[in-house]
Amino acid sequence: MIKFSENTFHLQNEYVSYIFKILENGELGHLYFGKKISHKQNFETMYIERLAASAPYQSTKNKAFALELLKQEYPQYGTGDFRMPAYQIEHENGSRICEFRYKNHEILSGKPFISGLPHTNGDDCETLVITLEDRLSNCLLTLHYHIFSGKSAIVRSSKFTNNSENPVKLLSAMSFCLDLPDMDYEILTLNGAWARERNVSSRSLSYGTTSISSARGTSSATNNPFFALKRPETTENQGEVYGFTLIYSGNFLGSVEVDCYDVSRVTMGINPFEFKWILHLGESFQTPEGVMVYSDGGLNEMSQNFHNLFNENLIKSPYKNKVRPLLINNWEATYFDFNEDSILEIAKKAKETGIELFVLDDGWFGVRNDDGSSLGDWYCNLEKLPNGIAGLCEKINALGLKFGLWIEPEMANVASELYKNHPEYIVSTPNRNRCECRNQLVLDFSRQDVVDYIFNMLCKILDTCNIEYIKWDMNRNITESYSLELPAERQEEFFHRYILGVYNLYERLIARYPAVLFESCASGGARFDAGMLYYAPQAWTSDDTDAIERLHIQYGTSMVYPLSSMGSHVAAVPNHQVFRKTPLKTRADVAYFGTFGYELDLNKLTKEEIDEVTQQILFFKEYRELISFGDFYRLKQGNFYSWMVVSKDKKTAILGYYKILATPNPSLKKVRLVGLDSNIQYSCNGKIYFGDELMNYGFNVNTENTGVCSGYEKNMIDTGDFTSQVYVFKA
Ligand code: DGJ
Repeated sequence: MIKFSENTFHLQNEYVSYIFKILENGELGHLYFGKKISHKQNFETMYIERLAASAPYQSTKNKAFALELLKQEYPQYGTGDFRMPAYQIEHENGSRICEFRYKNHEILSGKPFISGLPHTNGDDCETLVITLEDRLSNCLLTLHYHIFSGKSAIVRSSKFTNNSENPVKLLSAMSFCLDLPDMDYEILTLNGAWARERNVSSRSLSYGTTSISSARGTSSATNNPFFALKRPETTENQGEVYGFTLIYSGNFLGSVEVDCYDVSRVTMGINPFEFKWILHLGESFQTPEGVMVYSDGGLNEMSQNFHNLFNENLIKSPYKNKVRPLLINNWEATYFDFNEDSILEIAKKAKETGIELFVLDDGWFGVRNDDGSSLGDWYCNLEKLPNGIAGLCEKINALGLKFGLWIEPEMANVASELYKNHPEYIVSTPNRNRCECRNQLVLDFSRQDVVDYIFNMLCKILDTCNIEYIKWDMNRNITESYSLELPAERQEEFFHRYILGVYNLYERLIARYPAVLFESCASGGARFDAGMLYYAPQAWTSDDTDAIERLHIQYGTSMVYPLSSMGSHVAAVPNHQVFRKTPLKTRADVAYFGTFGYELDLNKLTKEEIDEVTQQILFFKEYRELISFGDFYRLKQGNFYSWMVVSKDKKTAILGYYKILATPNPSLKKVRLVGLDSNIQYSCNGKIYFGDELMNYGFNVNTENTGVCSGYEKNMIDTGDFTSQVYVFKA
């Protein structure tokens, strides 16, 4: 997959080519990333030097060798290129100039392990490691490129090593840079806030810089660490698109700068704002991995590339490629107001319906009866649960259910034993005001002793019983960032060290409890990123459990993240976030397209509703393998949403069709399916269709009353607002 000749590297698989060369000054110049092209000994045809009056040249011997006019692999600022750099290093004398020149390279088969950071993995990979050297400062820069067979993606990261006695300061270190030769793109991003995460927005690129970022300490609900550059004519099913993301959960920056020659420079990595890293002799800094996906088959194909890469080459959990237990969570059923009896009542009913895992959410520890206390005191509240977590877990297991537990290990309340004993564990700036949020404070996870302390406390609970699932929550952003353990000159290392501490705790819990299924959560989906997926193969998508809201949220989330990763539950009505009433059927029809579960008190449902829930569970169990790991296609959004999943062998497909508001005397609704086999005959509700009929003519969906129906007619079927249909097509 990786070839090198005549100073040119060509990474190529069935789908993509990525080509760059060693320039005459020893730096690396980018030539091409896109659809696979035929291999040649060199690609000088793609390399064009030009003279421009305003462009500085590095040597009078060749005035046409001007970095400003060239596409580059991992550029710096200050030696002829004025665009956003991929890195910046400050030397002891205060200068910020480097001359990293090609030294050597290695082509390895497989994917090397990266210690301390989440990363892609798998044997179906080839790796290119290029080492560049800055002789004056005696620093090395290694660029890592990974290509996977059958994946339309390139994964990149960079590493800086200081081999000199003089310390250097890394002021920025992006994971990758990609110079695209034109600017004819729209940028698509996933934006939002608490309870309305990952709404899709897009706008045309123009001159200057367009960026998304987080400085909140998490990857955030505000801007998900993903963006796509699509051609204006690209749709869900056709056209060119590049997708970019980071395997990282902290502060990030993703930016596109369109320069004066219409080149679009894409960079993505740790946010340089609030970042600096000091390297002493022999020390290295490794950036997170960044993922670049290319598709000429539209947004759906881009998304499927991300889904397949994450499912097959990222998730580390034993649940990789395995269906997840169907769960019930007590949060919206009880909030903080529960005891052992009320929990067991819900669990018993859950077992009767076919649910497999009971998750005890917030409120089981310390003296926590509201959100004002006890975070940090990870021992059981015996007033609520007199037999402890172990006793409850045994009883839940005796019912035939797995048991799962909620934790929020990165936090403490002022009203906690932890805070009383260790106020120095809190993130705060000395002699300054300290913000609270949801009444809580953030623990300084940049400190190893804090991570150790929490690890040991959690082990005391986890060692006592058969906990098979953990929901790891994180409910506030970080303010007044500062660590009492770091010297003044290292304070800007705080945010990255914090997230390394989070990863360290994940590593250690996973090593000690290898069978546990982790679900990540941050006030819903504020840390839904590829870094978290490495450890926790599913994430709570949003605190908004309303089925209609979830249409928008799950639609956007699916741009990058696979259905197997999207926690989606059927909740009570009126919904607790928007007070909307939606039918039980619609709530399930939306939640099926994720890791399905329930989040309500089943004892409050009628007998008919419980029968319906039982049928929903049977349906999901029958199709969950296909839903979790099939190919997902978004079909439509607006007043009518639809999406579908097709099994990898194309023999089964499931279509979800959703109506938000009803219209009187409506038009006939038809949806054109995609991803089927043209020649296969599919049956659906007793009718037979060829795949090509379903994909070209389409499928008539019956969701509405016809014009003759009106309120006075008897036996009218309720097909009003917020209704849905799920159809199964079988070969
Ligand atoms: C926020 C989460 O997103 C909810 O699901 C729930 O676990 C609460 N925290 C508990 O405090």
